[in-house]
Amino acid sequence: MKKIILAIGLVLASSTIQASDYRPAADAKPAQIFSDACASCHGDWGTGKFGFLLKLTGTTLSKEEIQNRISAGSTMMPEFPNIKKEQLSQLVDYVEALPPQ
Ligand code: HEC
Repeated sequence: MKKIILAIGLVLASSTIQASDYRPAADAKPAQIFSDACASCHGDWGTGKFGFLLKLTGTTLSKEEIQNRISAGSTMMPEFPNIKKEQLSQLVDYVEALPPQ
């Protein structure tokens, strides 16, 4: 019985991690990308819509870790495979530069 519950849990957990099909316009600026793709969860200024868990200001993650988080997602955050190269690195800079709250 435990195994069945565990299996159901795994299916549920993995089905919630979905890649976002968001694709930025070729000339989209990082502020635009953030407001289109991230603000719904993280708030307009990265202050977090649902409290500290979603707060991005004052993150202790390195550039590389932020970049990985956007490309690979996490258990609770979708991955954004279509944000790439310059736009990705500009977005990372943007996240790092969010004013502390
Ligand atoms: C569906 C909601 C959702 C969206 C949309 C979303 N995130 Fe997240 N994000 C989360 C959650 C939940 C966490 C915290 C849990 C975790 O770390 O996995 C998180 C964590 C993060 C972290 C790690 C913060 C830290 O200090 O640990 C970064 C960086 C991040 N998100 C950046 C982004 C960026 C940039 C975008 C837009 C491209 C984005 N997120 C879009 C839900 C979301």
